[in-house]
Order: sequence, then structure tokens, then C-alpha cells
Amino acid sequence: MKENEIDKRRRGFLIKITLGLSALSAVVAGIPVLSAMLAPLMKKTPAIWRKVGLIDEFAIGITKLVKFENADPEAWAGMTAFTAAWLRRDTENVFTAFSVNCTHLGCPVRWEEGAELFMCPCHGGVYYKDGSVASGPPPKSLVQYQVRINKKAVEIQTAPVPITSINA
Ligand code: FES
Repeated sequence: MKENEIDKRRRGFLIKITLGLSALSAVVAGIPVLSAMLAPLMKKTPAIWRKVGLIDEFAIGITKLVKFENADPEAWAGMTAFTAAWLRRDTENVFTAFSVNCTHLGCPVRWEEGAELFMCPCHGGVYYKDGSVASGPPPKSLVQYQVRINKKAVEIQTAPVPITSINA
């Protein structure tokens, strides 16, 4: 075999080894990055019951703002770990809770007692007392939380929700 032919084969072999090792390095380096990116999608959404007050603090027929900690706050969240809901005592033992977040772009809605409407200050979204859309851009009703009475406490089943800033 000629020297040239041997060099050519050696060069070809080295190129294949280099490409193979590069591909292997890319896969090894990519696994942690891919895992970090996909982990939040695989994570099960926690649903936690949060106490928002005692039954006697709520009058029948009145809708009141209650504040509670998000189900899945980040360690660095600070004030933003808290969110709120509009809680109404319908009857002696029946409560309804709505997320404060507008279903359009998440702005916090406010309850207008006289008009019996939830109003969104951002783009004029309006919701009826039952949370359904009355007018404006919201695409769907306000999100409702599960509510239960545990001994004398009213509890809301929370799940991660968009961040809001409220002064409850
Ligand atoms: S965020 Fe409420 S109407 Fe747009």
C-alpha cells in the first residue's frame, strides 16, 4: 500500500472517530438541558386545601375577597406567592369561589356589589355573578375553586394560578 493511501485511510478513520465523539458529547451534554426543560411539563400539579377563614366571618349572600398562598409557590416568590379569590357564602353551608384572574389576560377582577358583576379593569371584561361572561374580551367564565368546610373553617382547593398583585 502506498503512503498516500494509508494517510487517506487514517484521516478517514480519525474523522469518523471525531464525529462520533462529538455526537456522543452533544447527547451527554444535552440530556441535562432537555430534562431541565421538560421537567415542569412532567410535574404533577399540586392541589392543596388552604384555609381562608372561619365560617362565621362570611355573611350569607356576600362576596368577599380572600387571600391565600399559591399551591406551588417558588422559593423566591415573596409577595407573589400569594393570590386571591372571590368567595361567596351562598347558603348556610354552601360557598362558591372564583379566581380573581380574568380569563382574558389574567388581570385581577373586582366585585361590584351593587351591580352584582365582576369587572376587569384592563380591557373592560365583565362577568355575571355566577362567573359567566357578560361582555368584553374574556373567552370563558371565571375559574372556580372547590370549596369545603372543615370543622369551622372554610377551605379552598388551590392550584397554581397566574401571578397577580392584590392588596387584600
Ligand atoms: S385582562 Fe380582563 S378583559 Fe383583558
